[in-house]
Amino acid sequence: MRVLVTGVTGQVGGALVRLAGEGAGEGIEIVGVGRDRLDLAQPGRIDGALDAVRPDLVVNPAAYTAVDKAEQERDLAFAINRDGPAALAASCAERGIGLVHVSTDYVFDGTGTRPYRPEDPVAPLGVYGASKEAGETAIRHALEDHLILRTAWVYAARGGNFMNTMLRVGKDRDELKVVADQHGTPTAAVDIAGAILALIRTRRAGDGVAPGTYHYTADGETTWHGFAEAIFERAGPVWGRRPTVHAITTAEYPTPARRPGYSVLDTSALTAALPSLPHRSWQAALDEVFAARMAAEETA
Ligand SMILES: NC(=O)c1ccc[n+]([C@@H]2O[C@H](COP(=O)([O-])OP(=O)(O)OC[C@H]3O[C@@H](n4cnc5c(N)ncnc54)[C@H](OP(=O)(O)O)[C@@H]3O)[C@@H](O)[C@H]2O)c1
Repeated sequence: MRVLVTGVTGQVGGALVRLAGEGAGEGIEIVGVGRDRLDLAQPGRIDGALDAVRPDLVVNPAAYTAVDKAEQERDLAFAINRDGPAALAASCAERGIGLVHVSTDYVFDGTGTRPYRPEDPVAPLGVYGASKEAGETAIRHALEDHLILRTAWVYAARGGNFMNTMLRVGKDRDELKVVADQHGTPTAAVDIAGAILALIRTRRAGDGVAPGTYHYTADGETTWHGFAEAIFERAGPVWGRRPTVHAITTAEYPTPARRPGYSVLDTSALTAALPSLPHRSWQAALDEVFAARMAAEETA
């Protein structure tokens, strides 16, 4: 089974290629492509990109992910997050192949009081969330054989993410202020990649999960403040010092894009559909990713 993975320079796309290379994708040939080979902003070229690889399945973690910048770059965000996936889904439909598409908790407005289920009404607060939501809708219309996997608060040892920002800033400062009224679940890119590989393996075995929209994150929930504390809990012994993290409100840290106050995702539908799906607490995943980041620093 040959699987084309987009966005290989990204956190999730990169993790998928690495994990498959380490043997987790046994019997599955992963062909990772970057923007140079499949540009979502060039929908007219997507057919050619698929024909060059001739995959049996496409996984699309590539996206315009600059949440704040998107407020100024609406057209580009919609081109990459709506029109690109729409064209990709149409190309998959023409070739009779499936599409696994990665989406986001930011499709919700965050006024919920219990973890969001896949069927809960969407109401994105910003351009990025709106563009991702539009991409989901376009895929549902164009292609029956789709899995839309919403995830949240993605981070990895490498890449622009909250953990790496905290480690960079916390190294130089004794005190930081971090938002404590946005609730969600930090999710390691490697865990998302593992879940996608598990979904592909069951599909290959002829026992795939039914098409539709699902949620996948690590187990548990926290706030950005809680996540920062957990990062410094691990960094403290390495650095021999630990910065103080002050809890602030979203109102005290204005950003161009509004963010949901509560975007914990209910993952039970996916776990019910695939009980063998790997999952662990966000803290256990952080232990591993933090260690990988420290190891990368040592060898750099
Ligand atoms: N990051 C989060 O916290 C988060 C949270 C929830 C959901 N998600 C979703 O999870 C998925 C993976 O996120 P991530 O954190 O792995 O993203 P990421 O690290 O920001 O990587 C994005 C990837 O998309 C590629 N890309 C951007 N524009 C493209 C285009 N026009 N054509 C082809 N590729 C393009 C980038 O390539 P270049 O290197 O060439 O720019 C990069 O490989 C995305 O769909 C995102 O919406 C992310």
